[in-house]
Amino acid sequence: MSDVIRLIPRLKQEGSILLNDAQATFLLGKQIGMSAVGGEVIGLIGPLGAGKTVFIQGLAEGLGITNGPIVSPTFVIMNLYQGRIPLCHIDLYRFDTPLETIGLDEYLHWHGVTAIEWADKVVIKEMGMIVEILDVGENQRRITIR
Ligand SMILES: Nc1ncnc2c1ncn2[C@@H]1O[C@H](COP(=O)(O)OP(=O)(O)OP(=O)(O)O)[C@@H](O)[C@H]1O
Ligand SMILES: [Mg+2]
Repeated sequence: MSDVIRLIPRLKQEGSILLNDAQATFLLGKQIGMSAVGGEVIGLIGPLGAGKTVFIQGLAEGLGITNGPIVSPTFVIMNLYQGRIPLCHIDLYRFDTPLETIGLDEYLHWHGVTAIEWADKVVIKEMGMIVEILDVGENQRRITIR
């Protein structure tokens, strides 16, 4: 955990950091989850296997989710989890219906945190944070937050 905390100032300053393993991505997500207050909408962008779900698993731990484990909701589009702050986990990978037809809006305006994988498929003005994960080596990822 301490390693990732040490990297966060650089992430804020430079906009991106290199993380060397899955645990680091998990811990970055956890750190963001621990500082969440509810109502955040976080978009995740990155190719298959980049680590979007790993980041959200960390986020969930930071939110104090009690009914895990967090699994990819690819076939159901959305999973809800209870915790200190509840989490709505959305995965748009197989999604090609216009967004307005699925009523996502109610999950963007609630007291929980919403995390959206494949967020580049939609334009959502509520998305306050975009986490982009680039696969730059077997276990190395470049994470950009904007
Ligand atoms: N630095 C890293 N950060 C995150 N995951 C990593 C890292 N290095 C290796 N991995 C591995 O990459 C895989 C990432 O899987 P994950 O399901 O999180 O990807 P994803 O982006 O959600 O993929 P999908 O688009 O299929 O949902 C895991 O097996 C994880 O252990
Ligand atoms: Mg995933």
